Amino acid sequence: MTQPGRSEGPGRIVLGVTGGIAAYKTAELARLLTKAGYDVVPIMTPWGARFLGPLTLEALTGHPVRVETPAHESSEGIGHISLIRSAELLLIAPLTANTMAKMVTGMADNFLTATYLAHRGKTLVCPAMNTGMLEHPATRRNLAQLAADGVAICMGEAGDLACGEVGAGRMAEPDIIMDAVRMHLTPDIPALVGRSVLVSAGPTREDLDPVRYLTNRSSGKMGFAVARALRNAGARVTLVHGPGNLKPPIDMEVVPVTSAAEMEAAILPRQAEMDLIVMAAAVADYRPQKAEHKLKKGHFDGTVILERTTDILASLGAAKRSGQVLAGFAAESEDLLSNARGKLERKNLDLIFANDISGEDLGFGGDHNRITALDARGHTIDLGTGTKDALAGQIVRLLAEKI
Ligand code: CTP
Repeated sequence: MTQPGRSEGPGRIVLGVTGGIAAYKTAELARLLTKAGYDVVPIMTPWGARFLGPLTLEALTGHPVRVETPAHESSEGIGHISLIRSAELLLIAPLTANTMAKMVTGMADNFLTATYLAHRGKTLVCPAMNTGMLEHPATRRNLAQLAADGVAICMGEAGDLACGEVGAGRMAEPDIIMDAVRMHLTPDIPALVGRSVLVSAGPTREDLDPVRYLTNRSSGKMGFAVARALRNAGARVTLVHGPGNLKPPIDMEVVPVTSAAEMEAAILPRQAEMDLIVMAAAVADYRPQKAEHKLKKGHFDGTVILERTTDILASLGAAKRSGQVLAGFAAESEDLLSNARGKLERKNLDLIFANDISGEDLGFGGDHNRITALDARGHTIDLGTGTKDALAGQIVRLLAEKI
């Protein structure tokens, strides 16, 4: 059996915890990191260990927690140096104003600050403090200096703080930190670095009257996963997404829309500046003529008149400039490959990703998908079945080959 935190996953992360109330969220972060396959080695400052029980982190990561100062180290050698040499990332969450100031000045008075000083690789920090402390010129100077020293900073959204105030200073939520971790640990794909790409995702919602609408079962997960994977590979991403419950990813331009017409208005004017466009959205093909007032039982004869929406991808295909790469998705319940190839040709695409939605657990809504890619040269590549995140990684590699 694999020990928690010792799986043959994507690598080792040293997780530093300093003394802030947000440390309670770090337990969930440690759980998400180990679940994703990272080997998580926890270090706590003495105050960190008072806010979150070291036993909790030990149980979640499978590693003993280090809190002692470097001076207490024994026969195993210079622990903090050998530990950090084997790590891909030093992640500090939460990071207090106090430890931040120590990092900036190069103090090494506990295991965590000594580890930071010895570290030559990537560091990602998640500050957490009261708004006043965050806005103090000293903290702002320190944050700017950390960034200048090459430390990546993941800030949380403004909201309720433990001190009773509302404002900036909350630690980022664990899923947002996970996204930042993946982003910093995924190697760039040279063909995509700095490229402008647009991804559409999710359903559209077409109003029937002021209270009712027509929509579809798309969750947006596949499109969001492709957008994240492209950003992780180094591209500059714009994500245009329809309504849904997914949290917008960090470090990309996010454009929320509701209807097919709004999606069209968000995408077509951006076409010229994009090197690559991936239409993963399930755009409504028809919209009802919207009634100005709520349809009432007594007066409605049960007839809904539908009109065609614009086929956004076909419009993009017609206006495609040379060198621009265009990809779409084809969700099919029958004749998967011939339907998908027909769409690829009709819409002038470079790639289409066909997914079979006839199965119960695959495709719309779920976390898994089965995808076959078809390109304009007549190649068919079976990407198999997998999580939408894993498939997004394969999709991005295929897209990079076309650029
Ligand atoms: N698409 C689009 N605008 C639309 C409809 C679809 O841009 N109004 C895009 C989708 O984002 C997807 C591709 O076209 O990338 C194929 O969508 P799909 O719904 O599978 O195909 P349709 O062309 O709508 O054909 P059909 O409904 O007959 O299957």
